[in-house]
Amino acid sequence: MALLPAMFLSLNLLFFLSQISHATDTISKSQPLLNGSTLVSKDGTFELGFFTPGSSTNSYVGIWFKNIPVRTVVWVANRDNPSKHKSNMLSLNKEGNLVLLSQNRSVVWSTNATTMVLNPVVQLLDNGNLVIRDEKDNSNSEDSFVWQSFDHPCDTLLQGMKLGWNLKTGLNRYLRAWKSWDDPSSGDFTSGVKLGVNPELVIWKGSVEYYRSGPWNGIFSSGVFGFSPNPLFDYKHVQNEDEVYVRYTLKNSSVISIIVLNQTLYLRQRITWIPHTRTWSVYQSLPQDSCDVYNVCGAYGSCVINASPVCACLEGFKPKSPQDWNQMDWTQGCVHSEPLSCGVKNRDGFRKIAGMKMPDTSHSWINQSMTLEDCRVKCLENCSCTAYANLDTSGGGSGCSIWFGDLVDLRVSESGQDLYVRMATSDTDAKNNKHSKKLVSLVSITVSLVLLVLLALSYIFMTRKKCKENGIWTKEKDDGGQENLELPFFDLATISNATNNFSIDNKLGEGGFGPVYKGTMLDGQEIAVKRLSRSSGQGSKEFKNEVILCAKLQHRNLVKVLGCCIEAEEKMLLYEYMPNRSLDSFIFDSERGKLLDWPMRFNILSAIARGLLYLHQDSRLRVIHRDLKASNILLDDNMNPKISDFGLAKMCGGDQVEGNTNRIVGTYGYMAPEYALDGLFSTKSDVFSFGVLLLETVTGKKNRAITCEENSDNLIGHAWRMWKKGIPEQVLDANIVDSSNISEVVRCIQIGLLCLQHHPEDRPNMTSVTVMLSSDSVLSLPKVPGFLIKNISIEAEQSCGRQESCSINDVTVSLLDAR
Ligand SMILES: *[C@@H]1O[C@H](CO)[C@@H](O)[C@H](O)[C@H]1NC(C)=O
Ligand SMILES: *[C@@H]1O[C@H](CO)[C@@H](O)[C@H](O)[C@H]1NC(C)=O
Ligand SMILES: *[C@@H]1O[C@H](CO)[C@@H](O)[C@H](O)[C@H]1NC(C)=O
Ligand SMILES: *[C@@H]1O[C@H](CO)[C@@H](O)[C@H](O)[C@H]1NC(C)=O
Ligand SMILES: *[C@@H]1O[C@H](CO)[C@@H](O)[C@H](O)[C@H]1NC(C)=O
Ligand SMILES: *[C@@H]1O[C@H](CO)[C@@H](O)[C@H](O)[C@H]1NC(C)=O
Ligand SMILES: *[C@@H]1O[C@H](CO)[C@@H](O)[C@H](O)[C@H]1NC(C)=O
Repeated sequence: MALLPAMFLSLNLLFFLSQISHATDTISKSQPLLNGSTLVSKDGTFELGFFTPGSSTNSYVGIWFKNIPVRTVVWVANRDNPSKHKSNMLSLNKEGNLVLLSQNRSVVWSTNATTMVLNPVVQLLDNGNLVIRDEKDNSNSEDSFVWQSFDHPCDTLLQGMKLGWNLKTGLNRYLRAWKSWDDPSSGDFTSGVKLGVNPELVIWKGSVEYYRSGPWNGIFSSGVFGFSPNPLFDYKHVQNEDEVYVRYTLKNSSVISIIVLNQTLYLRQRITWIPHTRTWSVYQSLPQDSCDVYNVCGAYGSCVINASPVCACLEGFKPKSPQDWNQMDWTQGCVHSEPLSCGVKNRDGFRKIAGMKMPDTSHSWINQSMTLEDCRVKCLENCSCTAYANLDTSGGGSGCSIWFGDLVDLRVSESGQDLYVRMATSDTDAKNNKHSKKLVSLVSITVSLVLLVLLALSYIFMTRKKCKENGIWTKEKDDGGQENLELPFFDLATISNATNNFSIDNKLGEGGFGPVYKGTMLDGQEIAVKRLSRSSGQGSKEFKNEVILCAKLQHRNLVKVLGCCIEAEEKMLLYEYMPNRSLDSFIFDSERGKLLDWPMRFNILSAIARGLLYLHQDSRLRVIHRDLKASNILLDDNMNPKISDFGLAKMCGGDQVEGNTNRIVGTYGYMAPEYALDGLFSTKSDVFSFGVLLLETVTGKKNRAITCEENSDNLIGHAWRMWKKGIPEQVLDANIVDSSNISEVVRCIQIGLLCLQHHPEDRPNMTSVTVMLSSDSVLSLPKVPGFLIKNISIEAEQSCGRQESCSINDVTVSLLDAR
């Protein structure tokens, strides 16, 4: 008897379920939204519903693009109030607020409308704005909304949304990143408009300023590139008594493009949907590069992205702490070389510096109608004024902007403008003084002549020296012999003591040129000691010289050489100790691999590229590494990579191992064809190794040297096949699939394949590689990568006659008898 009502009930329930699982276009008091159904905008672009992101078990209400197959959530109602229940309901309560009720009818989240209307309805507008308004009012004006989601942005800025302040109500609309890809709750990064006399767009990490755009200059901002003429969108900046905000509109209504604040590497991205590849493509990222990080170069330091080091003092300024500055610690910034004379007899002037991102406007003053000359006078008469510039650069420049106190966060920017920096007169290009101008140019001609002569001399010296060496060191610039770097020499007893008499417990590993031990000095400093193999071919004096040269190579992505020890047969190198060991211990390990997500790996690759670029071009010496591989990349506390073993090939007499000429140093799997076969090494053979390293980092797989077995698979070959099939992303390490951005990964693989080209001249140099990694520039298409060329594999087979060479993959070996 009791069976019948039960059946009836469940039938009823089924009917009910099939009824609710479709889209509606309004929510009203009588028509709530249940789990399973969605609210769709009239034109079908946006959809609101319940969702559970990634591996989360929480339930959220969100808005996403209805027609984009990659679920892209642009707004989350209850980001910080997740529902733990499976079935939830969104409805209007009797006060006219939208409430999210969970299974047990408790309120999970609610809107806070302050006004009430007679017949409230909830609608999702075509622009993605969720609004509560009166059923009868169709004016679609902002005033008619009792509440709108555009006033409570999450991490996404849609077209038409205002980012900034309503000064009347105090409402501040800003973006805040998701905590992670499967957790929409409030992350650390926020981005919005910083109020002040001259508002700017800022990204904060917590409460610390992380990036600023530079003040609005009529076009966009002196710090953001590529804005003025672009086919995609228009920016609008509004600043009046009531409001300060920016917003954008898309020029082509059929293009989908949004701005997302991300918790990862590139924080604020404009991404555009590419229908035929079904991916989001990154149009622009902020920060744009490492010069964009807030105040990297300190006060009066200017960041130039293509320079090395990137920071330099403005002309007329010198490092406040030269020692720190030379060690690339720029935080102290620069000071005037010549003190200002303000106050005594006002003898200061200004130096014009072109193409600058305007300094932080926290301490500044503006006037829209003043001319540049008025501006100069205004600045000159106040001793704390340090610089001035035009406020608006559109239409030839107008208005006045002046700064007080230290100028911070300066960089050279493509869209930069002229900044006039206060100097002692003796330090400026003396105004209107022809005589002194002439003098200056005479002096500079003389100086450059002297320099030329010096250069010519050093060139002769250098070529002479080069003839003697066939090695990897090439003296590029004469260092004047002045800076004789004090490299500490340690005695064997000290090192032996620090490493517990080279105890096996202290052994960190066996590198290419000998074992590495961990040591602790008496003062507690931790070091790594590399004990070079005894058979090293060099004499002590040459070795010492090489070590000193190596110690001069200082870059944040190179392991620091702390000293050395030479005693009798023993030669040892002392390095800084890297607690996180080497890259290979992460990427080739399925468990530890999880600790390095895609943004971290991308970061690591970019940093290695910069380190290698420094070795190749930026240091005074041109250094070819010759043994770049994952086990030679060490990681510090913050997982910043540092290249190790640079220069060792030379120090250990790489070309003369065991007295046999024509033997080469390197590692199977990483060697460029021309190096493996003919012993020809160049910066381009390092580029090849970088390509291998890149593929390994992306795939989590080791590249095997070509072995004797038939059909043995090789990572480069695999990546190339997938590339040809148009599915390069399939090679991705399963550990990073979730954290990765497909277009970034594909771009990376393409860069890797370009590095792996057969002919050295087809490979990019490291300058191009760093540019390709840090920008969205168009990449050329790779041809068949190096190892696949037939004669190479034949050669490799020949060398396989020696058993041991077939399987060795990651140990540095001497290799190949040349023909
Ligand atoms: C909603 O209902 C569906 C079944 O209709 C269920 O699979 C899902 O887990 C529920 N919860 C959420 C958050 O959608
Ligand atoms: C409803 O469920 C939530 C979470 O499980 C709980 O915190 C709350 O006390 C419950 N409310 C009622 C009225 O049972
Ligand atoms: C609404 O106001 C309450 C109390 O002032 C606050 O706790 C809640 O976070 C607010 N909700 C929203 C969505 O702003
Ligand atoms: C707008 O974009 C669509 C799709 O990308 C394109 O087909 C169309 O030509 C564009 N229209 C204009 C006016 O650029
Ligand atoms: C701006 O400059 C103009 C012209 O010099 C002057 O008349 C005006 O008072 C100034 N405004 C402010 C706010 O100082
Ligand atoms: C110079 O400008 C600062 C900052 O606006 C102001 O506090 C100070 O009074 C000014 N000094 C003079 C002499 O005008
Ligand atoms: C952040 O950026 C990464 C890489 O571009 C992307 O894979 C990820 O989905 C983004 N996360 C969010 C929350 O947008």
